[in-house]
Amino acid sequence: MAEGAIGPTLYSQAEIAAVIERLAAEIASDYRGKPLLLLGVLKGAICFTADLARALVRQADGPSEIMVDYISVQRYGSLGSSGGQARLAMDCGPSIAGANVLITDDIADNGRTLQFLQTLLRERGPASLRTCTLFDRPARREVDVPIDYPGIVIPNVFAIGYGLDYKELYRNLPYLAELREGITV
Ligand code: IMP
Ligand code: MG
Repeated sequence: MAEGAIGPTLYSQAEIAAVIERLAAEIASDYRGKPLLLLGVLKGAICFTADLARALVRQADGPSEIMVDYISVQRYGSLGSSGGQARLAMDCGPSIAGANVLITDDIADNGRTLQFLQTLLRERGPASLRTCTLFDRPARREVDVPIDYPGIVIPNVFAIGYGLDYKELYRNLPYLAELREGITV
């Protein structure tokens, strides 16, 4: 794999795994005995959703059933510091009405993707709707969006790995790194 754009490590594989175990324990206790639908946001949440789903299996007295689905949101317009509209690029399975839905995303950045999704999904009548993000960058938040299970607060640098991409590359890095200095986003 081309390693040219990989900068210093922000969080190692082991550090990320520990945070996911902590999130899984909290989620397992809140959804004890109830069916739970993990809804991953493509493409950034591929790694996190898969690891969280498996971490939940290791929890005693967790959800009665765990289902996994994905949904895809595309941002368009003037991306960057502010603005940029969101639109549904690929919908999830047929119905989430009556389900306990937990949105799982890689990172809460300016918050517009999650705000769009929460509004869209709430209209479909889930029994409950919560949001879990592995990474959180509150410094860049532009809209007030509830994150029920925030993982790691990260610094205000462009990050790659563990689902996060730079030009569609590096999603498969098993840890989180900074984009190398001098590379423009
Ligand atoms: P927002 O919260 O609507 O700004 O969008 C967040 C989405 O932008 C995330 O789900 C990521 O897919 C992407 N994103 C935000 N920050 C980064 C980053 O540092 N590296 C790579 N992708 C990012
Ligand atoms: Mg994303």
